[in-house]
Amino acid sequence: MPGQDPTKSTILIIGAGCFGLATAHRLALAGYYNVTMLEKDDVVPSRFSAANDLNKVIRAEYADSFYTDLSVKAIQKWRSDPLYRPHYHETGFLNVTSDKAAQVTKDVVTNYLTSIKGHPAFKGQFSTINGAADVKKVAPAFSGPTAGWTGYFNKMAGYGHSADASKAVYEDCVKLGVKFVLGSDGDVTGLVYASRPAGKVCVGAKTRQKTYRADKIILAMGADVSRLVPQIGPQVTGRCWGVVHIQLTPSEAEALRGIPVTNVRDLAFFFEPDRATNKLKFCHMGGGFTNFASSKNGLSLPFAKLEDSQFIPLDDEAYIRTLLREVLPQFADRPLIDAHLCWFADTIDSDYIIDYVPGTNASLIVLSGDSGHGFKMLPIFGDFVKDILENGSQNIAKWRWKDSSRIKEGSTWRGDTATQELVGLPRARL
Ligand SMILES: Cc1cc2nc3c(=O)[nH]c(=O)nc-3n(C[C@H](O)[C@H](O)[C@H](O)COP(=O)(O)OP(=O)(O)OC[C@H]3O[C@@H](n4cnc5c(N)ncnc54)[C@H](O)[C@@H]3O)c2cc1C
Ligand SMILES: *[C@@H]1O[C@H](CO)[C@@H](O)[C@H](O)[C@H]1NC(C)=O
Ligand SMILES: *[C@@H]1O[C@H](CO)[C@@H](O)[C@H](O)[C@H]1NC(C)=O
Ligand SMILES: *[C@@H]1O[C@H](CO)[C@@H](O)[C@H](O)[C@H]1NC(C)=O
Ligand SMILES: *[C@@H]1O[C@H](CO)[C@@H](O)[C@H](O)[C@H]1NC(C)=O
Repeated sequence: MPGQDPTKSTILIIGAGCFGLATAHRLALAGYYNVTMLEKDDVVPSRFSAANDLNKVIRAEYADSFYTDLSVKAIQKWRSDPLYRPHYHETGFLNVTSDKAAQVTKDVVTNYLTSIKGHPAFKGQFSTINGAADVKKVAPAFSGPTAGWTGYFNKMAGYGHSADASKAVYEDCVKLGVKFVLGSDGDVTGLVYASRPAGKVCVGAKTRQKTYRADKIILAMGADVSRLVPQIGPQVTGRCWGVVHIQLTPSEAEALRGIPVTNVRDLAFFFEPDRATNKLKFCHMGGGFTNFASSKNGLSLPFAKLEDSQFIPLDDEAYIRTLLREVLPQFADRPLIDAHLCWFADTIDSDYIIDYVPGTNASLIVLSGDSGHGFKMLPIFGDFVKDILENGSQNIAKWRWKDSSRIKEGSTWRGDTATQELVGLPRARL
């Protein structure tokens, strides 16, 4: 808004997940005095949010140095800012393939390390892992064979307790005067547009009960974004991975204190046991499952009801049990609990979308396309949104609303794994 104090405009943010909370917090800190958040769940962190989880990996190695630089900045805040510091655990990140992985999967690591080693942030942080002896050096608590594991260990990485960090940001937002409307009053069913002489503008959002008006409307609905902005089309595909826990006793958890985040790329990844609950979290990260079947507009969307996402695909259990036999065989037969699907908003190039919706005269902003790697940016994501609000446009090309020529027909996630529909898939009976 040239010539106008932006902090005087009324802001409405829809969705109190990772991107929405980060945005509300940054704007409130910058003096925006009238920020309202609408969230469909009646608690924050929302049970629908991908960030409502025990932990998420925080690491800076990306093949694209644009994200490396941002992640390094985010990690500095995770380490030093009193709001984030209590929720960040710098355990290191062990990224390997097991002995049984296909040769092509193993070969990727050499190219990958070559592409990131040049970055000054990583000087002295990486060690190569070649077999069980190297694994034992960085994770002496691993009791299984871990034979033939190859990959690397990155010291400057770890995890964030994503539910706790989200809650901390939420509570700080409340202190800073952000208004929250939760539950059915905050469950947005449509956007309100007005016709002006020069064209259409978005002037608010409506729930079943009420209409909320604002100068700027910011959609931060994660994988659900196309419910309100169907014109986003195939730019964003809702996908999910299955997440489960196993319960450890306090002494079992104590023995694993400080283990690195461990990603065995062909099997699954896991974290240090949660400090509050002693739960170990596992996720088999394949291509990400889709749900095209239940949508009306040909787009893949998360299930609308929470109960429908309370399972994991049958194959995931086999990967997790194989991993346990390799690394912690004493837990190989322990029941898997808390099974659920975690939904993210995937884009073809894995770039976020942070931009004005075309044809709305800069009244409507969409934050989406996290592509499964957005949580680590929590401490700095709000800066990205503040910049476009105050600049009036997105100057960073890779975060723009994608023109349809960049969307390849029939592409799959990162082009590396075939994607599978959820509907009709065998489910693990837990
Ligand atoms: C299994 C899994 C593992 C991941 N691991 C990592 C990792 O290791 N590192 C990392 O950096 N990132 C990771 N991510 C990604 C990270 O969780 C996301 O990037 C991040 O949560 C995206 O934030 P968001 O705000 O866009 O979406 P979300 O956090 O999903 O929030 C969307 C919010 O919108 C609300 N909402 C939806 N519709 C409406 C409506 N109609 N009205 C009101 N509110 C609505 C929802 O209730 C929710 O609160 C992972 C994701 C998954 C699924
Ligand atoms: C914030 O904006 C809303 C919508 O324009 C308005 O109704 C409300 O009075 C404003 N609140 C303050 C404190 O100005
Ligand atoms: C793990 O390493 C592989 C290469 O071996 C790389 O492609 C992948 O992106 C890495 N994963 C993470 C989360 O950094
Ligand atoms: C577009 O926004 C500008 C600045 O906020 C405003 O001056 C102009 O009248 C708007 N145009 C329409 C069509 O609403
Ligand atoms: C505007 O865009 C430029 C270039 O991307 C950026 O450096 C700047 O921080 C942005 N924000 C503002 C408020 O100017």
